[in-house]
Amino acid sequence: MKEIRIEGRKPLEGEIKIQGSKNAALPIMAAALLHKGEIILHQCPDIADVHTMAEIMKKLGVKIQYKNHTMVLDCSHVKETRIDFTEGRKMRSSVILLGSLLGRFQDACIPYPGGCVIGKRPIDLHIWALEKLGVSFFEKESVLVAQRKKLQGTEIVFSGSSVGATQNAVLASVLAEGVTRLKNCACEPEVIWLCDFLCSCGAKITGAGSRTICIRGVEKLHGTEYTIPPDRIVAGTYVCASAITRSQIVLSNAPIEEMEALLCLYQKMGGQYEAIGGKLSLCSRWVQYPIMRQCTEVYPGFPTDLQSPLMAVLSTIPGQSCLVENIFEDRFRTADQLKKMGADIHIKGREAWIRGGTLKGARVEAQELRGGAALVIAGLAAEGVTYIENPQYIERGYEDICQDLKMLGAAIEIE
Ligand code: UD1
Repeated sequence: MKEIRIEGRKPLEGEIKIQGSKNAALPIMAAALLHKGEIILHQCPDIADVHTMAEIMKKLGVKIQYKNHTMVLDCSHVKETRIDFTEGRKMRSSVILLGSLLGRFQDACIPYPGGCVIGKRPIDLHIWALEKLGVSFFEKESVLVAQRKKLQGTEIVFSGSSVGATQNAVLASVLAEGVTRLKNCACEPEVIWLCDFLCSCGAKITGAGSRTICIRGVEKLHGTEYTIPPDRIVAGTYVCASAITRSQIVLSNAPIEEMEALLCLYQKMGGQYEAIGGKLSLCSRWVQYPIMRQCTEVYPGFPTDLQSPLMAVLSTIPGQSCLVENIFEDRFRTADQLKKMGADIHIKGREAWIRGGTLKGARVEAQELRGGAALVIAGLAAEGVTYIENPQYIERGYEDICQDLKMLGAAIEIE
């Protein structure tokens, strides 16, 4: 069994480059299916979720080559429309294949999606939006079967903001007949990147990044070469690494404009930063102020994906802080692991009350992707040695968190 070993309390120093974004890469890979030809993606992150997605797509008939972060997808000869049960269950993002499969074919089959254990995570909004476009669904032995005759553009008003459902509706509308108007869409950068990619393939989409997205159906798409943008959550995790070790580090290739909410909070904690020539220089020497109340929100608010790493940081800042989780109902599980390291955290419903102090090395268990990363962050600041079991969860989204932190001077190994 692999585990991560961290000897805490080593100051960090130096510069690391931020990888391509997982949450941009996965839907863009899925979108490649809409073109009966070749798509080239650069800066495609070398992470487990990308490999799982590639395996699923290969089983559909996509030819994929991947080398030095460049992925070439040839979707010319796809015939299969059923997503492999085992691979599909591994990753919730496989649900994003529904939109593109239905854009191209008359049917699609997906297992009910798995993924991180951070709440119920229903897909009702995805299904509802696709139904509006002309898809009918039925369930057969834990598999969701989707069928359509023709996809017809229409107006869809989402009842709640969902990144995945917005992306699925966009994917299904690109080749639909007529105009689709999506209202109350998610405004996350990952929606913008997907639309940007699709436009580079000849799709006609306006309004991405706002609440209303308008898609004018086209007959077909063409090939393109596209660079996956850097990962705002990975960059944010490393901001937390700097904060918890009170160190000075530099992040190159960080999507600074997408990190406003976190950087604002970082300043409130006493952190200082400078953004020069695409590099983000962080100085955390004076990080010392607790946070009275911080809610997770849809973009441009504070991202739920950084809630656990922030909780680790706040566990080291004297005084009382409070985090409110508004997006996923069961995303405080990491608190129990942090408590094993001596953190003083009380959960009351959607609120986590944190009284900062000293963390101590312990044996802890990663249970999901971002929570796992938070334990790594905590280990950097803990007295003594921390062992993190199940690092495979962290590998779903981070190319090599150990190597990155080691380059900055952390005493961290994967054993
Ligand atoms: C995406 C991100 C994930 C991030 C999340 C919130 C990807 C691959 N994943 O996930 O990392 O944590 O956005 O920014 O990009 N909901 C419903 N019904 C639905 C769909 C969602 O009720 O059909 C609810 C969810 O339970 C949740 C909220 O809507 O409470 C937001 O979920 P959503 O934006 O869909 O998140 P994901 O797309 O799954």
